[in-house]
This record gives sequence, C-alpha cells and structure tokens, in this order.
Amino acid sequence: MRIAEFALERYFARWEFAVEHLLCASDVQGMPMRELLALADDETRAMWDGLALGYTESTGHPLLRREIAALYDGLDADDVLVFVGAEEAIFCLANVTLDAGDHSVVTWPGYQSLYEVARATGAEVTLHELREDHGWALDIDLLRRQVTPATKLIVVNAPHNPTGMLPDRGTFAELVGIADEAGALLLVDEVYRFLEYRDGDRLPAGADATPRGISLGVMSKSFAMAGLRIGWLATRDREVLARCSAFKDYTTICSAAPSEVLALIGLRARDAVLARSREIVAANLERLDAFFENWADRFSWVRPSGGSVGFPRLTVPGVSIDDWAAGLVETEGVLLLPGSQFGYGGNHFRVGLGRTDLPEALERLERHALRTLR
Ligand SMILES: Cc1ncc(COP(=O)(O)O)c(C=O)c1O
Repeated sequence: MRIAEFALERYFARWEFAVEHLLCASDVQGMPMRELLALADDETRAMWDGLALGYTESTGHPLLRREIAALYDGLDADDVLVFVGAEEAIFCLANVTLDAGDHSVVTWPGYQSLYEVARATGAEVTLHELREDHGWALDIDLLRRQVTPATKLIVVNAPHNPTGMLPDRGTFAELVGIADEAGALLLVDEVYRFLEYRDGDRLPAGADATPRGISLGVMSKSFAMAGLRIGWLATRDREVLARCSAFKDYTTICSAAPSEVLALIGLRARDAVLARSREIVAANLERLDAFFENWADRFSWVRPSGGSVGFPRLTVPGVSIDDWAAGLVETEGVLLLPGSQFGYGGNHFRVGLGRTDLPEALERLERHALRTLR
C-alpha cells in the first residue's frame, strides 16, 4: 500500500512534545488517572484491581461494547466494534468498503486519514469543501452533485475538525437522505460529539439516523482520554462490522486490556467526565471570543458550534500564517497549526479549546501579535 504522509501528524511528531504551549491541540486536557479511578463503581474497580494482562476479545470487552452502545438509541453491544483509537477504525473501514473504481465524498479541510486512506485503496475521492464565507456549512446542493453511481462511502465529520461546524438538523436530515438515495454508507465522524455548545444542537448519531449510517467515536476528544487509544465504530450494518473485524486481525487484533477497563470506567461516569470537558471548552471559548473581538481587524473568527477546535484566519495583508506561526513558536513557545497542514490555503490556522493552559498561551500569542501586527 502506498499512502501519502499524514501532514498534521508529522507536524505534531515534530512539535507536540517540544513546545511549552500547544494552542492547537484537538483533544481535551487528559483526565488524570487518579481522578478517573475515583469514578469507578464496585464492578469496574474489581475489574481494574484483578486485571490480568492477557489478550482481550478482538471485538472489544463485552461490557465496554454495551456501554458504548448505550450512547446510541436502540443499539446493542453487537452493533459496536472497538478499535485502537478512531484512527484504526478509519483505516479498517476505508479498506473494507472501498476499492479501485469506487468513489467516496469526504468533507474538507479535515482530518487527513478520512480521505487519504480512501485514496490509498485506489478509490476516487471527491473533497466536499467547506468555506469560511458560507460559515463553513455543508453545501447540500454541491453534495448532491458530487455523489455518483459509484459512490460507496460519504464521510462527514461533525462537530468538525478544524472548523467547529455543526450542521442543523434539517441539513443533517438532507445529508442522510442523499446517502440513502445513493445506497452509500454514511460515516459520521462524531469524535467531538457531546461537546455541542447549545442544548438541543446535538445531532442524531449517524448509526441512529439510518441503517447504513456508521458512527465513529473515540475516548480521545470529548471524553478527554486520548492516552487510552480506545475508539469504536457503531452501526446496525453488521456485515460492515464483521468485515472490519476480520481486517483488524492484520492491524492490532485487539485493544489494550487496561485501556478497555479505564474506558469502561470513563463511559459509566460520562456525565462527570463530559461536564469537566465542557467546562474547560466553554471557558476557553469565551477567552477566544474576547481575543478575536479585540483583534477583529487582524483576524477573522467564525465561532465554532461544537467540539474543541476552531479555524480562525490571519487577515493582515502580506503576512503569511506559516511565517507568523513559526515566529510565535520560536519567540513564545506557543504552537498553532497553520491551514497548510490540511493542504488548505487562505491563511487559516487551527486553535484548540481543550487545554487548561490556554489563558497563558493566549497571553503569549497576544504579546507576539502586539509585537508583529500593530
Ligand atoms: C475528526 C477526527 N477524527 C479522528 C481522529 C482520530 O482520533 P484518535 O487520534 O484518537 O485516533 C481525530 C484526531 O484528531 C479527529 O480530529
């Protein structure tokens, strides 16, 4: 298999652990192990204390799958397959659903593996471009035109990385209708689900919306446990799950036993876990709103509707965000993620809303802005 480098992950490999402040992380501040274990109930505490470090069930621990299924309406444990992160799920799903001659439509700019793995299967990929001047919204008419008789898989990420876009219910229903009409599978990357900013904005899950809908979830983002590397696919399409399951025998076979138990603890305590994440994100969003209001003549800011990232733009003529971000990391030790890492021009950059050091990082960014943009 030939596959292009994952630009964003290469960028993080270079910088993530070398800078003082990661102002572009997409995950929420990792939950401390001690805090998580304090949330265990009697059953999961006993599972943790008595854990033997053998292989685990390749589909995922039955209790974990049952807990994940409870995030959806009317799914059961057998509608869920556990993976090592969302990344492995994307890799397996694209490989079992796409082939040369097939076609896929994927939202863009976006998480590169959502379209790069599809391309590597030999399938043709059409990028569904989101645009700032449309408020980053899905363009349903465009999507309708992009779907062809060969379209096997439509991929939408919402809340969206990097823009924070969240379709309204009407638009989402139209999207589901397009996929159904085309007879295509609909993968909804919902790794930022549960971080919607307004009550009532949460969309139906892809797996609940249609029998051929597939929800992609993970512990990394809303659940603030990226270090577990636990993700999943949930769908009523058991055939797709069975094929993914067989493919996974060539990637990881099964997940890490400690991670499965910790994920189970986190999901059972999801009200507390999600409340912590939402609190961090809400406070940071307010700070970013204030910053971008003060600097409205230098940056544009389409306020995200959900998730833990946003995609502002540096609007100063003649100043490239790549150069400006390079200066910022050099002088202040603060990392931004320029849009070029998504292959997206236009001077945008990703900011992360999930880290507790955002106030300090933003202060440093402002210092850099005062030095270089005034
Ligand atoms: C939209 C989206 N999907 C999938 C993933 C992969 O998640 P993980 O790294 O936990 O496997 C990410 C991570 O940034 C993401 O932003």
